[in-house]
Amino acid sequence: MRILGLETSCDETAAAVYDGNAGLLAHEVYSQVDLHAAYGGVVPELASRDHLRKLLPLLRKVLDAAGGSGTIEGVAYTSGPGLVGALLVGASVARSLAYAWRVPCLGVHHMEGHLLAPLLEPEPPEFPFVALLVSGGHTLLARVEGIGRYEVLGSSLDDAAGEAFDKTAKLLGLGYPGGPQLAALAERGRPDVFRFPRPLTERPGLDFSFSGLKTAVVVALRDRELDDQARADAARAFEEAVVDTLVIKCRRALEATEVRTLVVAGGVGANRRLRARVRAMGEQAGVRVVYPRVEFCTDNAAMIALLGHLRLAAGQHDGLALRARARWPMAELVSPSGATPL
Ligand code: KG4
Ligand code: ZN
Repeated sequence: MRILGLETSCDETAAAVYDGNAGLLAHEVYSQVDLHAAYGGVVPELASRDHLRKLLPLLRKVLDAAGGSGTIEGVAYTSGPGLVGALLVGASVARSLAYAWRVPCLGVHHMEGHLLAPLLEPEPPEFPFVALLVSGGHTLLARVEGIGRYEVLGSSLDDAAGEAFDKTAKLLGLGYPGGPQLAALAERGRPDVFRFPRPLTERPGLDFSFSGLKTAVVVALRDRELDDQARADAARAFEEAVVDTLVIKCRRALEATEVRTLVVAGGVGANRRLRARVRAMGEQAGVRVVYPRVEFCTDNAAMIALLGHLRLAAGQHDGLALRARARWPMAELVSPSGATPL
């Protein structure tokens, strides 16, 4: 089956075509980063308007690259979680195209897309695997048995890892988006000048808590002259603390489940220090570590088209209603065979 996927949940407009036999045929991402940079964060109203401007030109590009619209057999779009105004752009376009083309349509879960993005790689992980999902809105560890069969092992009690990166970047005077900028600054930071806590690692369990780290950074820098080196040193120590914490919890989850494959997905999965440290831990523990390539860690439609394919090809689809959900707990996801059309 050949599926068109659309992604408009936040500040990236993306479209992709995935084919069950040939794999990913085309994908395009337009990032709104420049638009929101002046405001220091995503402005939802501006995001929706920009999706309206960019989505159809992007769609034409991927359809041209994939050999036209005539071969599309289904349409998938991100129906949540995300900014509702932004989601509605993708939902309206996707549902209308599917109506016009007389093909099935399905609203899919953005985080499930991130979780399954490693299946786009040439040597995909096999089920079951443990997934560390680290994005701007979510941090969780899950045992993945199959499509829609997820057991959440632990999650963030407050800020997501990406959110902690973004907030700390702001404190350090960096622009939006903060994660990649903080990581770049950390490259120039010296190790062991500052040391921040590894939250919730001293007690058992697989939950996370990152909100205290930004306070630790503020306290550490309070009475110092805030020159470039001090900011870089703080960025380095912050990154070390987050990465260490994530690695400790991954190892713990692998031990508890006795699963031998670990997947790291979501925007923070693009972080180089995290990738290197998780890889080293995997080698030491004899565990296979799989990442999506960096462009499929951050928001994209390739993962949405792939997920759409996995579910639509199994017979799952929606009715004619459009779907857009700001919040959508992953625990509500079901395997394709157990799903009923809206
Ligand atoms: O998965 P994603 O693109 O969007 C969501 O679904 O949230 O994740 C975005 C998050 C942002 O918080 C961003 O700062 C963070 O991922 N991020 C990074 C890096 N690249 C993106 N954080 C740390 N290091 C990076 N290299
Ligand atoms: Zn995302």
